Amino acid sequence: MNEDVLILAIESSCDETAAAVVKNGREVCSNIIASQISLHTLYGGVVPEIASRKHIEKINQVIEEALSEAGYGLKDMDAIAVTYGPGLVGPLLVGVSAAKAISFATGIPLVGVHHIEGHISANYIENKDLEPPFICLVVSGGHSHLVEVKDYGEYEIIGRTRDDAAGEAFDKVARAIGLGYPGGPKIDKAAREGNPNAIHFPRAKVEDSAYDFSFSGLKSAVLNYLNGCQMKGETVNTADVAASFQQAVVEVLTEHALCAVRQSGYKKFAIAGGVASNSALRAALKARCEEEGVQFYYPSPILCTDNAAMIGTAGYYEFIKGVRSGLDLNAVPNLKLGEV
Ligand code: KG4
Ligand code: ZN
Repeated sequence: MNEDVLILAIESSCDETAAAVVKNGREVCSNIIASQISLHTLYGGVVPEIASRKHIEKINQVIEEALSEAGYGLKDMDAIAVTYGPGLVGPLLVGVSAAKAISFATGIPLVGVHHIEGHISANYIENKDLEPPFICLVVSGGHSHLVEVKDYGEYEIIGRTRDDAAGEAFDKVARAIGLGYPGGPKIDKAAREGNPNAIHFPRAKVEDSAYDFSFSGLKSAVLNYLNGCQMKGETVNTADVAASFQQAVVEVLTEHALCAVRQSGYKKFAIAGGVASNSALRAALKARCEEEGVQFYYPSPILCTDNAAMIGTAGYYEFIKGVRSGLDLNAVPNLKLGEV
């Protein structure tokens, strides 16, 4: 084995075909992302079958590019880390099959990685001082979780959404106000021109849990507001709707997250997932963490949305613990965190 531990990482759980080479867990040697966003924009969301086909077309190319940009060959790799769930089954299978084929052909060990563990681990890349334990808010297109990161690879979910994920709410509201797909970045941008207090949308509380989220009521409130405007013949101020909706999401996420941080007693808090790149959410959390004397960690936007570098980092910590996957590794679309 080399002195350095080199991981080739592969991610294909949704609409990005990605490969990366990561050294010693936190040094990204390459991070190649082939995004399919423009393709799915036509349909207003990810079409799983199209995503699978596009992953097949791109996977070998991104793996080759990741290795050549990093200046390494396959023979230099100590392990191949691949996302095996959760996500869309067809897209996941493309990455898992590619990783298994390389592992079979070369004998390089295979490490299956949980996609959410990858998102959380994105924080380790730019924050070399960050070590567990800490609380992490994971907010993506498919997930909204408050996670207690007890150690590397040891997680407890302490809060989750009861219905829509935060990113899903962004995407659905963006579609309703005519901003298109993907909604998160478009709402983020439109909201900068709007008044966050223009329209009062509900901040949902989940009765029996201080940490769980619910976003479907907020989404319905926005749709009702839009219908009301249409019936009254009023023009909709898109920027105000975007800003007011975003404010409601940000407030709920911030309150729940800080409550969990306070309860845990940890003085470290991180965010992860596509929605973690939202500028209003980052600003609100930064301000609140400063008030409470909590160290706030967040990845650069490119490491918040799906990428393979984060899978390489998560894979590294699994690999050094001795975790190995067999060639029977399968895609698990609804893989739970903690089952890694
Ligand atoms: O983590 P991610 O790339 O994929 C999943 O694992 O789901 O997250 C994608 C989600 C999408 O719903 C997208 O609209 C949202 O992240 N997103 C944002 C922003 N950038 C991406 N949401 C709010 N503000 C943003 N700036
Ligand atoms: Zn993701």
